[in-house]
Amino acid sequence: MSGLFITFEGPEGAGKSTNLRYLADCLRAAGCDPLLTREPGGTPIAEQIRTLLLANHSEQMNSDAELLLMFAARAQHLNQVIRPALAQGRVVISDRFTDATYAYQGGGRGIDMQRIAALETWVQGDLRPDLTLLFDVPVEVGLARAKARSALDRFEQEERAFFDAVRTTYLARAADAPGRYRVIDGSASIEGVQAELQPAINWILERWHA
Ligand code: TMP
Repeated sequence: MSGLFITFEGPEGAGKSTNLRYLADCLRAAGCDPLLTREPGGTPIAEQIRTLLLANHSEQMNSDAELLLMFAARAQHLNQVIRPALAQGRVVISDRFTDATYAYQGGGRGIDMQRIAALETWVQGDLRPDLTLLFDVPVEVGLARAKARSALDRFEQEERAFFDAVRTTYLARAADAPGRYRVIDGSASIEGVQAELQPAINWILERWHA
């Protein structure tokens, strides 16, 4: 038995967390009980790594250290939570996964994508998401929402060029593998975004019933 692995991606302020809750509610209404989780994080150890990654430190975090911490958290999360749930046939929905590493550490920090691909294979083997919902918003819209929300974490304090590269990398990855991604316009109204999510909800329910 193998479940379904769904990921939500997008820059800060794109609305992925709100829409993840909406999609989960729709699945529950249809009798499906998804496991909701997030990266970095999802287990007590991985949440501690998240705290380290997001905190503002007086010392600059080295980009390779950041990349390796992302995958350290991911290895813990995959083995403790994601793989066991998929083995039970559950629908697992993660708020971010390895696409974020390509976008932030690859696009944003400029780390060679081949290095990320090597770590992806090491930590995940051939496990990849079945479906990825990419919430896309213009960089200034996302950043304005993030600023209005709370104090800025270490990533949110990056320069505009960093977020341009994050967005470009996400969109390029979606264009390269259109079968796995659905790009959702995160700047649309709540009702508009929810309507855009409907085909993805149907897609999940069709496979879950199968
Ligand atoms: P969040 O804002 O969605 O909770 O994510 C936390 C931050 O971590 C966000 O700024 C994106 C960043 N991140 C990476 O840089 N690489 C990764 O692999 C993941 C999962 C998140």
